[in-house]
Amino acid sequence: MKWLRSYVESRLRRGISARALGPNEARVLYDATVTFCAGLIALALDAAFIRHIGPDMRLLAATIALVPLVSATSLALGIYGRLRFAAGARKAAVLAVAVTIAAAGAALISGDVPFAFLWLAIASGPITVARLLLGIAQAARRSSLAVAANDRGPVLVIGGAGYIGSHAVERLLASGHTVRVLDRLMYGRSSLDDFMTNPRFSFIEGDAADISRLTEAMRGASAVVHLAGLVGDPACAVDADFTRHTNIVVTRMVRAIAQSMGVRRFIFSSSCSVYGTSDQPVDELSALNPVSLYAQTKIDSERELLTNVPDDFFITILRFATVFGHSRRPRFDLVGNLFVAQAIEDGLITVIGPEQWRPFIHVSDLGRAIVETVDADPLLVQSQIFNVGDERLNTTILELAKAVQRVAGEVRPVEISITDDPLDKRNYAVSFAKIQRTLDFRAKTLLEDGIRELIENHRHGAYAHYREEAYSNVAMTRRALERFHDPDELSRIYAPLAR
Ligand SMILES: NC(=O)c1ccc[n+]([C@@H]2O[C@H](COP(=O)([O-])OP(=O)(O)OC[C@H]3O[C@@H](n4cnc5c(N)ncnc54)[C@H](O)[C@@H]3O)[C@@H](O)[C@H]2O)c1
Repeated sequence: MKWLRSYVESRLRRGISARALGPNEARVLYDATVTFCAGLIALALDAAFIRHIGPDMRLLAATIALVPLVSATSLALGIYGRLRFAAGARKAAVLAVAVTIAAAGAALISGDVPFAFLWLAIASGPITVARLLLGIAQAARRSSLAVAANDRGPVLVIGGAGYIGSHAVERLLASGHTVRVLDRLMYGRSSLDDFMTNPRFSFIEGDAADISRLTEAMRGASAVVHLAGLVGDPACAVDADFTRHTNIVVTRMVRAIAQSMGVRRFIFSSSCSVYGTSDQPVDELSALNPVSLYAQTKIDSERELLTNVPDDFFITILRFATVFGHSRRPRFDLVGNLFVAQAIEDGLITVIGPEQWRPFIHVSDLGRAIVETVDADPLLVQSQIFNVGDERLNTTILELAKAVQRVAGEVRPVEISITDDPLDKRNYAVSFAKIQRTLDFRAKTLLEDGIRELIENHRHGAYAHYREEAYSNVAMTRRALERFHDPDELSRIYAPLAR
């Protein structure tokens, strides 16, 4: 019964109400209804014109058995899976085979071959012709989209200049993709310097809320990886309206433009913060328990994205674990990076909430997870939520501090100070079984290796002091906020093609 619970919960999570039907559910229901009604008609005709007696138990059993027979053969032949996107004629042909096999089954069960033929004659028309007609309607819709649809176009990374984005860009380029970045450069452009001379890389500077920039960036793209937004609890607490605008409204716009321009793959960066606090390890089906506006915006965005998803649009939600590690856009508000910076600069790690559990993942592994999702079989990841991390990196904040102390201790003496009662209440250990099972994803960089790499970068002067304003999400959010409240800026970004 676990599958039933997980099915119902994932439907509810996607915002599909109990009364609404998903596309596949509608197909199965239609086929079952036609099968059963055709069975009753065949039964009546058989009784009236062939046997001249009422139906017997074997005929009734065959009529009922036809429904699971048709469903099972259609399922086995891929009608509700890989053939969902096939041309109408192909689906009709495969369905004709499925109903013929079901009719043979009905003949065996009933021992009445004329009944099975009657049923086949009545049911095959509505079942196969419906697919042919739907195929014609869909082909017309697709041909209007095909102007923009381009499965070989660049991967658009929105927020590609960021901490995770710059790793995703590096990995995508390394795996042969052409990459386009749209970013408003809240933290500068130097994170993109290494890519600028690559002929497979292009950059558009701008706000994803600027519909003309967004449209320009989306043109001809094969996939969009949406990483842009206000990140972390303190930055999101600066101004709730700005946060909802940047994290939810912009996400809605990105989806709408992607869908209308035929960009069929959409990968969204959510966060394991949606789990908030939990005494039990959590997985993708666990209750959500946000303890900040940041986490709530991720939940709202996930719901926006997973509602009313058409068959030919492939949205995947990646709930990232807490990230750590070196990046071209350094972040020191992340607990792992902060501890290393404190250890190297101050010789003192300040631990708040030592017993809190948190899942960690190295930023380069996240870049890899993004590429693996972009390259995955679309049906495998369609409308799926994946926690992205590795159970080997689930640890408490105190254990993390001790690991940093151990590695940094090779360079200088490091103390740990401990305070309880943290402002940040998050506490969760996470299961990553689903992404491991589905995409064979496991971390390649474990905690100590990532810590060592950060220490090396500190020692080689890769970073300014970790308290510099340039690294502060809160300071940069305040700057961006000034522009958000400027009426000229607002009328500009919401004026389509009015540049
Ligand atoms: N770093 C983590 O621990 C972590 C964990 C879970 C989820 N995430 C999510 O991953 C995504 C990326 O995080 P990050 O750490 O790389 O953040 P980041 O702040 O380093 O990068 C975000 C990038 O998006 C850009 N941006 C912001 N708003 C924009 C807009 N409206 N239009 C265009 N560009 C815009 C910024 O300029 C920046 O370059 C975010 O959605 C974040 O919530 C991060």
